[in-house]
Amino acid sequence: MKAIHIHQFGGPEVLHYEDAPCPVPDAGEVLIRVHAAGVNPVDWKIREGRLQGRITHHLPLTLGWDVAGIIEQLGAAVSQFKVGDAVYARPDMARDGAYAEYIVVRASEVALKPESLDFIHAAAVPLSALTAWQSLFDAGKLEQGQRVLIHAGAGGVGHYAIQLAHWKSAHVITTTSARNADFVRALGAAEAIDYTGTRFEDAVRDVDMVFDTVGGEVQQRSWQTLKKDGILVSILALTVPEEAPQQGWRSAYVFVQPNAAQLTRMAELIDAGKVKPVVGNVFPLHEASKAHTALQSGHTRGKIVLRVVD
Ligand SMILES: NC(=O)c1ccc[n+]([C@@H]2O[C@H](COP(=O)([O-])OP(=O)(O)OC[C@H]3O[C@@H](n4cnc5c(N)ncnc54)[C@H](OP(=O)(O)O)[C@@H]3O)[C@@H](O)[C@H]2O)c1
Repeated sequence: MKAIHIHQFGGPEVLHYEDAPCPVPDAGEVLIRVHAAGVNPVDWKIREGRLQGRITHHLPLTLGWDVAGIIEQLGAAVSQFKVGDAVYARPDMARDGAYAEYIVVRASEVALKPESLDFIHAAAVPLSALTAWQSLFDAGKLEQGQRVLIHAGAGGVGHYAIQLAHWKSAHVITTTSARNADFVRALGAAEAIDYTGTRFEDAVRDVDMVFDTVGGEVQQRSWQTLKKDGILVSILALTVPEEAPQQGWRSAYVFVQPNAAQLTRMAELIDAGKVKPVVGNVFPLHEASKAHTALQSGHTRGKIVLRVVD
């Protein structure tokens, strides 16, 4: 099969399109014919070698932990799927990813893909949508009527977070550049703050939850927007200020986990028209380096996806 390999850590030029042995499913695993693979910031962070302390990877490595495709072969003891099922998954990041014609995934991490989506859009869902779900609902316990500040609402994670919080009937405030203001409002944001012209902490007060998808200085400035007992959930490194206990501020760090049950729930919401993946750019598999350069610009609208089958 063809796959994108990295043989060393570095810039987009270390992504090589080359021949690779087709993987074989073990017990409890399935072989998926990849039709499309989502591209996420974690891919370029791993490509640059930034996560070496956290996840052990053996080189050569295939990146890409968002997949949509068709089950080609079942390993022993897999009964919940059959050959030919159209599925999607966020596979284990410690293993080879989906920038390839085939991938082996644990069956427990796989769900049937939303019927209303093509493979390109299905591949845009798992990692980002699970991140938003696990942050808002599992860690943040967001409830109907609560006020939530979602940073980078136009991005891969943010555009799902807005839709999920809106579906939950929360009041959604989001940060974005002005060119994406109409886009985030159409997704369900009640308020869109242009972070390039306004300091969001001057415009937002008393939120129940901040969902931090930017980190650093944006995270630091976010604490003051929380009400007493509010929670800041971050998917970037978390630094809790000294005054947090006396303000009653709570916090949580989320690192997205595979979750087939949540993917099944997401498919129901998508097929019911409650959540819609937005794909900003599609590149053919062999142009993965162009996809990385585009994503690293930091201004993608929605998701970038690699097309593996035409
Ligand atoms: N811990 C985890 O499990 C986990 C999971 C997923 C992602 N992440 C991390 O979370 C981050 C976001 O991921 P993503 O996939 O959403 O990235 P992304 O799609 O690349 O985010 C791009 C978006 O960020 C917006 N943006 C950039 N700077 C901003 C700022 N200062 N304020 C508000 N919006 C800003 C851009 O909007 P404009 O074009 O309008 O500027 C653009 O729409 C990444 O660092 C990623 O590695 C962590």
